Amino acid sequence: MKLLISGTDTGIGKTVATCALLRSLAARSIAALGMKPISAGVNSQGLWDDVEQIRSASPISAPVEDVAPYRLRAAASPHFAAAEDGITIRSDVVLAALERLEQQAEVVLIEGVGGFRVPLSRELDSADLAQAIGAPVLLVVPMRLGCINHALLSAEAIARRGLALAGWLANRGIDPDYARAADTIDTISDRIGTSCLGVLPKLDRETGSAGGIAVDALLARLRKQ
Ligand SMILES: Nc1ncnc2c1ncn2[C@@H]1O[C@H](COP(=O)(O)OP(=O)(O)OP(=O)(O)O)[C@@H](O)[C@H]1O
Ligand SMILES: [Mg+2]
Repeated sequence: MKLLISGTDTGIGKTVATCALLRSLAARSIAALGMKPISAGVNSQGLWDDVEQIRSASPISAPVEDVAPYRLRAAASPHFAAAEDGITIRSDVVLAALERLEQQAEVVLIEGVGGFRVPLSRELDSADLAQAIGAPVLLVVPMRLGCINHALLSAEAIARRGLALAGWLANRGIDPDYARAADTIDTISDRIGTSCLGVLPKLDRETGSAGGIAVDALLARLRKQ
């Protein structure tokens, strides 16, 4: 089984949600692997933060070349970062790495890059890649002003690519002071056509558990899709 963890934007908790889910699957003794096909922004140690977080949250291990086949130096839109590194991002490279991970794991959680439509090269964007991967999508939505519009636009784009929306998660960790989270969750659930699968509270990044995510309901939906 595979699931694409997408989000309404960059920096809204996709990695936090992916890691929380990986830990939760590990607690259920499910052999799960996280994948971050395209990561942009090397840190001062020559590593990629989200790739390292995902690798350490995965209950089984796999080569970094398969977990994160495109590790780009600049913290920029992938089409800029790849061009600066002299690389052209290709979906067949990602699909081959994903296939190797699927041979090792019962569940592969694939963290998207940025929002749902991010340029990857002159020809390719992240929605094309999502379509090639063909996995159901879990949408992470930060509870903050403007998020309803972003969630609905993202859901529309996902549906337009013929992909199933496995569910959505509300992240309370980005703007914990946002006062209308409960009403926002109701509004998005009504309009997006699927109930919220869970609310991520403000978590500790290293030890964060899946908090209030309905992991079993999510797994049941994935098994049906
Ligand atoms: N629920 C949360 N509790 C505490 N901190 C959070 C939470 N969600 C996100 N953060 C923090 O917000 C920042 C962005 O989160 P994260 O890295 O998960 O976003 P992302 O969507 O994966 O970003 P990118 O587009 O770079 O992959 C991080 O510093 C993360 O620790
Ligand atoms: Mg991330």
